[in-house]
Amino acid sequence: MAHYQIRKYRDEDYETVRELYSTGFGEHLNAVCLQTLRQPWAQFALVGVFCVLLASSGSFLLSILGLGLALLAGCEGVWFLFGQGIQLGLREDLLDIRKSYMRGEASCFWVAESGERIVGTVAILPAKDEAGSWELKRISVRRAHRGRGMAKALCRTALDFVAAHGVENVVLFTSMVQTDAHQLYRSLGFQKVEEFVWPSFPARMIKFMVFKYRYSVSH
Ligand SMILES: CC(C)(COP(=O)(O)OP(=O)(O)OC[C@H]1O[C@@H](n2cnc3c(N)ncnc32)[C@H](O)[C@@H]1OP(=O)(O)O)[C@@H](O)C(=O)NCCC(=O)NCCS
Repeated sequence: MAHYQIRKYRDEDYETVRELYSTGFGEHLNAVCLQTLRQPWAQFALVGVFCVLLASSGSFLLSILGLGLALLAGCEGVWFLFGQGIQLGLREDLLDIRKSYMRGEASCFWVAESGERIVGTVAILPAKDEAGSWELKRISVRRAHRGRGMAKALCRTALDFVAAHGVENVVLFTSMVQTDAHQLYRSLGFQKVEEFVWPSFPARMIKFMVFKYRYSVSH
């Protein structure tokens, strides 16, 4: 028997849903820091800091310390920019979840509850950039409840909803750092149809790739 139940969003879930989204998104910070460190310009800047400190102070220890501080400052910068990304979701559809998802027939937000605690979320609504398709969003499962098919069950609930509304295509966007989710989407029958660098200056600087997946209801 499932150790959780999936139900539609209620107003009292608001804070927990937003917290679950922020926590799930925030997990990828280290991967974004690593992606930044892989960029030649970042490596060049760090080597530059080290060489300048070594040449000016003559102290290897001080130069290593300076390098550590430069790394820390870089991570703080990435954290700040990443935090802005998280805030974007909180200011957009998750600002008024009822209005975004629970008004009308063509959208919905579900939560998975275990022992009266919300441990997973998923949402669906008409896609902005593709007329006739709907978009799967806000898929997140609390860490302690992962690997037991909860995300798959949440997504299937949303896909059944889509099928009942006669919609043919479902799309979703994920990124190069959300690697846990890629297998989930493949195992549900989604196929990657597009990949592109996220169109913002910081994202371009670190070649932050976003992937678009599509699912055909009648496949
Ligand atoms: C992605 C996420 C929702 C998966 O939740 P979950 O409940 O553990 O997933 P499930 O147990 O339903 O697994 C579904 C499939 O994904 C696979 N999977 C899940 N986590 C995986 C991992 N870390 N590595 C490889 N495969 C993984 C499972 O093996 C399963 O595949 P199968 O059906 O072929 O056996 C969860 O890791 C999460 O919340 N991550 C943080 C938020 C996030 O990144 N969301 C995605 C936004 S695009």
